Amino acid sequence: MKILTVIGARPQFIKAATISHVIIKTEGIHEVLVHTGQHFDETMSAVFFEELGIPEPTYNLGISGGYHGAQTGKMLIGIEEVLLKEKPDIVILYGDTNSTLAGALAAVKLHIPVAHIEAGLRSFNKKMPEEVNRIITDHSSSFLFTPTPTATQNLLREGLDEDCIVEVGDVMFDATLRYSALAETLSLVLSSFNLKPKGYILTTIHRAENTDDPEKLQNIFASLEKIAQNEKLVLPLHPRTAQSLKKIGYSFNNSPITFIDPVGYLDMLMLEKHASIIITDSGGVQKEAYFQKVPCITLREETEWTELIVNGNNFLAGADDLQIVLKKAKTVIFEKDQELYGDGNAATRIVEILLRSFEES
Ligand code: UD1
Ligand code: UDP
Repeated sequence: MKILTVIGARPQFIKAATISHVIIKTEGIHEVLVHTGQHFDETMSAVFFEELGIPEPTYNLGISGGYHGAQTGKMLIGIEEVLLKEKPDIVILYGDTNSTLAGALAAVKLHIPVAHIEAGLRSFNKKMPEEVNRIITDHSSSFLFTPTPTATQNLLREGLDEDCIVEVGDVMFDATLRYSALAETLSLVLSSFNLKPKGYILTTIHRAENTDDPEKLQNIFASLEKIAQNEKLVLPLHPRTAQSLKKIGYSFNNSPITFIDPVGYLDMLMLEKHASIIITDSGGVQKEAYFQKVPCITLREETEWTELIVNGNNFLAGADDLQIVLKKAKTVIFEKDQELYGDGNAATRIVEILLRSFEES
């Protein structure tokens, strides 16, 4: 069976690593990796291939930046060419980026079955580019691998075929389990930045809804600065946010926030594990906070990962109520291990299902 995987953005490299490692040791499957080029900085792309041992992509389309239509359109053209040449039996897609959408459209139009990993997530906010991307991808897919019961319910509510949906757990949980020990051994991030365990807050901000509105961005950073006046606040800076802060003339030199470049996954696992609190608008980081038993504040009005809110370890907040929510988050105690995201074997399950389905067809 020939699988063609389309990836392009940071979280997809991490998710894809889990599946690629299963494919490598499974007989009868061969994977062709296509990198759209959406993320391209060394710290946003190459570092993940190196440290997670992901095979070099066979194709790198070199497409990044620009408006959504232009970016997605160029990817669509590039992926279609590759699909026509490679003729894969199945296309694997992850999450909800423009690379995911382009992969879905290119494959479904050529009648190549699509497997969507992390299917069924919904924010119910169509102003988010990700929401549109994931709805279209789900509705173009033949295999819908959901991470949670909520995601499964979302798909059933939209009338998608029950037989296409398999709740497998979350490959990001697989990744955390797989790489945590390696992170402990190899990462020097705490000593490099002179960070003491539980002596700092970790923050990431990159969502378009937070970075593209100058007033909102200003308010968020004013609020983070207030916190950073009393507690060390470390922020690996996403290129999108760097661009937006520069545009509003943010004074990096006078800021009490400890800005660092984006870090590799192993360093990020260590930063997350030893943070006292995580403040983020990232989808992946919200879950990793839970995996590492660190209270989390999500700087958004809604989240797709609603079980974290119900579980009581994740709180939604905006710039205005961040200080109050921070006080509440500091009281969270993680009592017992729960498995909200499966058992860490999602990737193995997915590959088994795809192979079985291929052999039966
Ligand atoms: C994308 C995804 C978002 C995901 C995020 C993960 C879409 C619509 N958005 O957002 O869902 O949560 O990735 O991080 O697909 N840039 C660089 N260097 C890089 C990467 C990006 O300079 O390595 C610049 C781009 O040129 C662009 C901006 O950052 O100007 C935003 O990049 P883009 O890939 O369009 O969206 P993200 O905000 O990264
Ligand atoms: N991540 C990383 N280095 C960083 C910031 C994030 O390795 O400097 C990892 C993080 O651990 C998680 C993933 O990137 O696995 C989340 O990606 P991101 O926040 O960019 O996107 P989202 O999950 O919101 O789509």
